[in-house]
Amino acid sequence: MNTHSRKKPRGVLIAGNWKMNHGVAETEGFFSEFIKATSNLNKSDSSELGVCVIPPLLRLEQASGLAKKSPFPIAVAAQNVHWEKKGAFTGEISGPMLKELGVDWALVGHSERRQFFGETDETARKRTESLLEQGFRVILCIGESRAEREANKTTEILTRQLLGALPAAGQGAAGFLDGRLVLAYEPVWAIGTGLTASPEQAEEAHQVIRKLLWDRFGLEAAARTQILYGGSATPENADALLSCANVDGLLVGGASLKAESFAKLVAAGAKVIAL
Ligand code: PGA
Repeated sequence: MNTHSRKKPRGVLIAGNWKMNHGVAETEGFFSEFIKATSNLNKSDSSELGVCVIPPLLRLEQASGLAKKSPFPIAVAAQNVHWEKKGAFTGEISGPMLKELGVDWALVGHSERRQFFGETDETARKRTESLLEQGFRVILCIGESRAEREANKTTEILTRQLLGALPAAGQGAAGFLDGRLVLAYEPVWAIGTGLTASPEQAEEAHQVIRKLLWDRFGLEAAARTQILYGGSATPENADALLSCANVDGLLVGGASLKAESFAKLVAAGAKVIAL
């Protein structure tokens, strides 16, 4: 029997990207408060409601230890990983190193990595392919800038970024078919700006992304892949965004830093899967 909710056939994932925030004490405080604030969640809902925290690299070990204390499963993801498994890559970390910490989720292609650290569609593709091959779950981010949206280039940019960062059809398609690849639509103009895409803008972009998946990988991959929205998502706008048919969750920056507001976002996810 399919136990997924009618409104959310792919379930809902709420992921919090801490970026370069939270030291040891803040990480400890976040988890103890968040675990208390989510104590009403039912573990049996975890097949439909995913929760993921994405702390800075130096806090991954601590965060994965603290996450294990939560009765409701909390996944912990890395913000960046090299595609090679080892070698002369000063400053980088690899998939096997993360696995030793019990971390098997990673973010790829975030716009801040693209803007400030030279991430391209090509390097995002190398990371995605390698991580899927190593058994990771990958949250791959794409999204247009304000100038690109104003020039009506949103579909063009999403097409270039998505197809440029995904493995060719056939290769790595298992990553879609078993749900390990999650996409995040993050319009750059909405990230950290307080400007949120309207539910209509988000739904339109998510439909474009799902159609691209369908064309390249087929109906099953398109139907199963979760597509998150990111860009100034807050407890105030979460219900409206999550009510969109093709929005399968949220990738949250600023509002994920405080346990109280992240717990509210998770509660919004729990509410929509119960419909
Ligand atoms: P924001 O960040 O929620 O602070 O806009 C989102 C993100 O960059 O993932």
